[in-house]
Amino acid sequence: MVYKLLTPGPVQLPKEVVNAIARQPLFHRSKEFRELLENVLEKLRKVYNATPVIAPGTGTLAVDMAIYNFVNPGDIVVAIVHGEFGNRMAQTAESRGAKVYKLETKLYPPPPDVVEDYALRLRNVKAIIAVHNETSTGVVNRYLDKLQKVAQNIGAVLIVDSVSAIPVEPINCKIDVIATATHKAFMAPPGGAIVYLNTEPKPRTPVPLSMDLKRFLEHLSRIDTPYTPPINVLYGLNASLDIILSMGLTNYQQLHRERAGFLYSSIKLRSVAEGVHRSNTVAAFYTDKASEIIERLRNQGYIIAGGLGELKGKIIRIGVMGDISMEDLRKVVDTVNMFVV
Ligand SMILES: Cc1ncc(COP(=O)(O)O)c(C=O)c1O
Repeated sequence: MVYKLLTPGPVQLPKEVVNAIARQPLFHRSKEFRELLENVLEKLRKVYNATPVIAPGTGTLAVDMAIYNFVNPGDIVVAIVHGEFGNRMAQTAESRGAKVYKLETKLYPPPPDVVEDYALRLRNVKAIIAVHNETSTGVVNRYLDKLQKVAQNIGAVLIVDSVSAIPVEPINCKIDVIATATHKAFMAPPGGAIVYLNTEPKPRTPVPLSMDLKRFLEHLSRIDTPYTPPINVLYGLNASLDIILSMGLTNYQQLHRERAGFLYSSIKLRSVAEGVHRSNTVAAFYTDKASEIIERLRNQGYIIAGGLGELKGKIIRIGVMGDISMEDLRKVVDTVNMFVV
């Protein structure tokens, strides 16, 4: 059976991307590799205008790198937590030795003025950390621009986990640090951790070599990498960025809004997120038949995801990223609706 991925990632790859990765790796100290790297970096800057760094790793590594390079032991950190991935960010900051204060809400992120009040009461906050798209519930934080202003007002750095959002969920301002990865909305294979920087890392205590952004930046100034890069992932990313950029970023975003909008309007289950909070990459719905729906779709060749943590067995999550069609979504909707009485 050949399965199609409608998961929160990794996603179904376009055939151009599959063809691009199916080749021998280049030697990473060669002129040819530098050309590839330069191309990919330039395209990443077209997607979001900041300094991109790529390291071998997944989304978790990108988030860890972002936090370890901008948070120091003893720093006061405000962690905005409204789901599993917010909790993981807080855990990373704790492992770095920061004093982490969680601003925890049930489903939706708190409004920026609440974050500002909370941070002002704590005093001397060095970082605010937040998830752009909470993949565990399909909830988007649409306050990033205002959060960046809050961070600026209080002299803190804003670190955003956009692993399942950028470039589908737009970011229309200069966020200090964004962590993402190749295998979700970028439509490339897993293996590339991406950190976009609008500010320079100045860690006061050492960062493990594999995560040291200063080293990466030093090498990138010569179009080079400190260690072996994820070479075949970069082939794939180069091809997927071509697809995204030739379609145009706004059209690419609109395509996902249409796909997600179709699910929200056609599936006869209550969606976890409502209104503006709804994600355009992952749509989540409450059901007490999650495992039956997932199994039935699997038998039809479609892989979707269930809930994480407390939501296990209570929701289904359908990813709309990657090489999928409206026809696929129509089939998924029909099957899910068969379980609704
Ligand atoms: C918002 C978010 N952050 C971080 C991660 C971790 O990424 P990875 O599993 O690639 O390490 C994920 C993965 O689903 C995610 O959705």
